[in-house]
Amino acid sequence: MGKDTTELTVVYEISKLLGSSLDINRTLKMTMKFLCMFLDLKRATIALMQDDELAIMAAHGLTRGEIELGHYKKGEGIMGQVGKSGYPIVIPNIRDEPFFLNKTGARHDIKSEDVAFLCVPIKFGREILGVLSVDRLLNSKGVSLDEDLRLLKIISALIAQAVKLHRQVQQEKQELIAQRDALRFELKGKYKIDNVVGNSPEMQAVYEAVHRVAPSKATVMLVGESGTGKELIARAIHYMGPRANEQFVKLNCASIPEGLLEAELFGHEKGAFTGAANLRKGRFELAHRGTIFLDEIAELTPTLQPKLLRVLQEREFERIGSERTIKVDVRVIAATSRNLETLLKEGKFREDLYYRLNVVPITLPPLRYRREDISALIEFFLDKFNAENAREAKLSPDALKLMLEYPWPGNVRELENTVERMVIMTPEDVVVPEHLPLNIRASMPQTTPPGDASRQPMPLMQIERSHIVDALVKTGWVYAQAARVLGITPRQICYKVKKYGIRQAQ
Ligand SMILES: Nc1ncnc2c1ncn2[C@@H]1O[C@H](COP(=O)(O)OP(=O)(O)OP(=O)(O)O)[C@@H](O)[C@H]1O
Ligand SMILES: [Mg+2]
Repeated sequence: MGKDTTELTVVYEISKLLGSSLDINRTLKMTMKFLCMFLDLKRATIALMQDDELAIMAAHGLTRGEIELGHYKKGEGIMGQVGKSGYPIVIPNIRDEPFFLNKTGARHDIKSEDVAFLCVPIKFGREILGVLSVDRLLNSKGVSLDEDLRLLKIISALIAQAVKLHRQVQQEKQELIAQRDALRFELKGKYKIDNVVGNSPEMQAVYEAVHRVAPSKATVMLVGESGTGKELIARAIHYMGPRANEQFVKLNCASIPEGLLEAELFGHEKGAFTGAANLRKGRFELAHRGTIFLDEIAELTPTLQPKLLRVLQEREFERIGSERTIKVDVRVIAATSRNLETLLKEGKFREDLYYRLNVVPITLPPLRYRREDISALIEFFLDKFNAENAREAKLSPDALKLMLEYPWPGNVRELENTVERMVIMTPEDVVVPEHLPLNIRASMPQTTPPGDASRQPMPLMQIERSHIVDALVKTGWVYAQAARVLGITPRQICYKVKKYGIRQAQ
């Protein structure tokens, strides 16, 4: 084999070796071994830069102990110099070289052998990744240090690529691991409730409160606009607590005529009043050992308020038409979509009752304050109603966009009803904007006939402005908090408040 063919074979074999495995240490070690064999070298090492120091990563002709000694500071010895300058150094005979450190102690026979030392940088572009060095016995025949050097430069370039690639892969792996750990950390301590959808920070706060309060008997007050899930959460609190196997009794104070409400709550004896043909237990009695859910508590009339207060305080009451006191063990969950503090100020709701009910308040945020939950809710209800109706309805991208942009004043209930109607009424499997209800389509500019002002969609700016006002009102005009609710920075909210000329009503 001629010299050129040998070189070519070496380069070819080494490039194959370097690409053969993901285990970089093993590949480098094999490369060194192969190099020694093929070029008849005594030793070969690869030292890589680590924390500003060169450390031997792979070698042939050195013991493990010798390898471990191979650490060089920048500029230290020949290796350190090459690592620092990025230029190769060839020492024709190390016996004559005072800079030669023999740090690893591998060259026991340094005084008796004629050995040349060739050291080339491993560079990727301008970055010095390390150095490749070999010991060449000078008694081998036909040695040309120039040719050796040329070949080593080619090989070091191949090594540089392999090392760089490996580092990039490692770094990406590290980043992925860090991302994964961060996600795990975020998930840890995060609460979930069956059938309750939404991962926004606002909903997380709700879940956390529910988990905290469910095991206790504490009275809970759920506050939220219509359709925000008050009843759903009330049931979750009941079913996640120790009373899960007992009754969950619901009473909507707004849906029962005032005159009948007392009888509904406390029951009546036979003949207690006209029409009371039979004894009837009230909701409190039915909820014994379980939970009573008093919905729309703000609608409770001034005459009934003290009666409810007594049950809450004493856990006892009498049926209408009876003097016998009935004791009950009930957990009370109340809900309101009206602002009770306002009613307190107006004198329409008793303060003592309010404090009895408001032991643990949980606020259910409207959907427009947690828009990131909309897509998960759409998916949840699509799955639900598709399954119920044996359909496979999907939203077209346009339709989805409209759904995501719609302000959902009726909150989750409106969204749920919309998806249900859509699944049932849509003739095809793909729901396009034309299948959506008019109010949602109203924000679609291209469907507006020109000149018909009454059908103009609400301008985006106006929508944005109303979102900001909502958030500010909700957070008591604390800009930083309102910004967080909206998912923008405090700076952005200040800018927008100025831009829209928003001012707090005096
Ligand atoms: N986070 C949620 N995940 C899944 N479904 C929800 C969620 N919130 C509400 N829903 C559903 O939306 C509908 C309305 O919820 P719910 O009846 O609990 O609201 P509400 O606050 O009591 O409303 P209203 O004041 O109108 O009575 C229900 O069908 C409920 O299951
Ligand atoms: Mg309700």
